[in-house]
Amino acid sequence: MAPMLPKLFFLHFEGTSFVAEREDGTIAGFLIGFLSQTDDSEAYVHFVGIAPELRGSGLGRQLYERFFVAAKERGRLVVRCVTSPANTASVAFHEALGFVVDRVATDYDGPGEDRVLFVKHLP
Ligand SMILES: CC(C)(COP(=O)(O)OP(=O)(O)OC[C@H]1O[C@@H](n2cnc3c(N)ncnc32)[C@H](O)[C@@H]1OP(=O)(O)O)[C@@H](O)C(=O)NCCC(=O)NCCS
Repeated sequence: MAPMLPKLFFLHFEGTSFVAEREDGTIAGFLIGFLSQTDDSEAYVHFVGIAPELRGSGLGRQLYERFFVAAKERGRLVVRCVTSPANTASVAFHEALGFVVDRVATDYDGPGEDRVLFVKHLP
């Protein structure tokens, strides 16, 4: 998944992106999110990733909770994200966090690249 994460995502989205570190300073997980420039009521999560040995420990949820607070502080009450239907772990994770499927789009990211479009309305 590294091609989804060129350096720019770690430089230009401070305030709405978060890194969780282990005590030794290595990366445990991260979430890259940003405010929509198109719709000023919305925020978007580009990627969330947790180190394989730490998955299932609640860290992904914690990173998302931080993002929801950051989005709300900036007046964004709608959060969107997109994942592959084949990534069943990601689909289950987002549903556990209260996201609902807005639609499933065929060829959304190009031929053969179907995507599940998730939305969550923050309380
Ligand atoms: C998807 C991912 C980010 C989840 O992170 P995580 O830290 O393991 O998730 P959490 O432990 O915080 O789980 C939060 C909730 O999601 C659910 N969940 C997480 N992974 C799940 C899985 N594989 N199957 C079913 N449910 C799952 C948990 O049961 C939990 O529910 P609960 O809080 O109601 O008990 C992690 O598996 C990952 O890094 N995957 C690879 C990268 C990826 O696919 N990212 C998403 C695409 S952008």
